[in-house]
Amino acid sequence: MTSRITIQPFFDRSTWTVSYVVSDNATQAAAVIDPVLDYDFKSGHTNTKAADQVLGYVEDKGLKVEWILETHAHADHLSAARYLQERVGGRIGIGENIREVQATFKKLYNLERNFLPDGSQFDHLFKDGETFRIGEVEAKAMLVPGHTPADMAYLIEDSVFVGDTMFMPDVGTARADFPGGDAATLYRSIRRLLDLPPQTRMYVCHDYPPAGREAKWETTVAEQRAKNIHVRDGITEEGFVAMRKARDATLEVPTLILPSIQVNVRAGQMPPADDNGVAYLRIPINALPKGGARKN
Ligand SMILES: [Fe+2]
Repeated sequence: MTSRITIQPFFDRSTWTVSYVVSDNATQAAAVIDPVLDYDFKSGHTNTKAADQVLGYVEDKGLKVEWILETHAHADHLSAARYLQERVGGRIGIGENIREVQATFKKLYNLERNFLPDGSQFDHLFKDGETFRIGEVEAKAMLVPGHTPADMAYLIEDSVFVGDTMFMPDVGTARADFPGGDAATLYRSIRRLLDLPPQTRMYVCHDYPPAGREAKWETTVAEQRAKNIHVRDGITEEGFVAMRKARDATLEVPTLILPSIQVNVRAGQMPPADDNGVAYLRIPINALPKGGARKN
């Protein structure tokens, strides 16, 4: 069967993130998934190298961006959703539970009173099971919480974009120790994804390749069920939760968690500028759990 969609991945080596452009071959309508805005912690500068690659592709192929989809409020990179929207349009969508994430982090960062944890910073809040269209292609949003309370996967034709739930089979699964995260919930979300037809193509949001293998991001439901080191068939919820909790206790805090989340709960917009015209990010002192020493 020839596919009605074209999927173009973009791998960002500085954050190990995979962004995607998914387009309808019939209408050239497209969705951008999880675009990255580069951010240099040392200088406080953003740059748009990664996002401009996506833009270049969109322009090259003459695509009409209808959606900019976030799988969740990422903790490892800033979102380029707003930057892309200003250039090529599209509605920025995320799961409706983002409100819960916004409320948690409004408190942690003590964000300005005008910042409302009501999801209004986004153009669309997806409910579990909600269908939508990219051109003539039907897509479905699936709520897959556990890594955060608001994670969504997007099923487009025979392909599912799973965000931070599962990674490639030899890497396993996403951590579940962020505020509102829960390992048992993550397990149940993953089982829902693994209940999709076995031939469903699965696209992950990150790859942390073991030494000696190139980065990869495409697998299938069947392959995950057979080989995923954390959740292949036969691994029970109990076993998974014990493994996940033990592992999460050793993981370091992601380098960009503090800058990322305060921008990503604003749909990729910087905080309002101070009266000198400069926008500032906030770093709460001694407020976030310290984390361990392991990278991933
Ligand atoms: Fe994440």
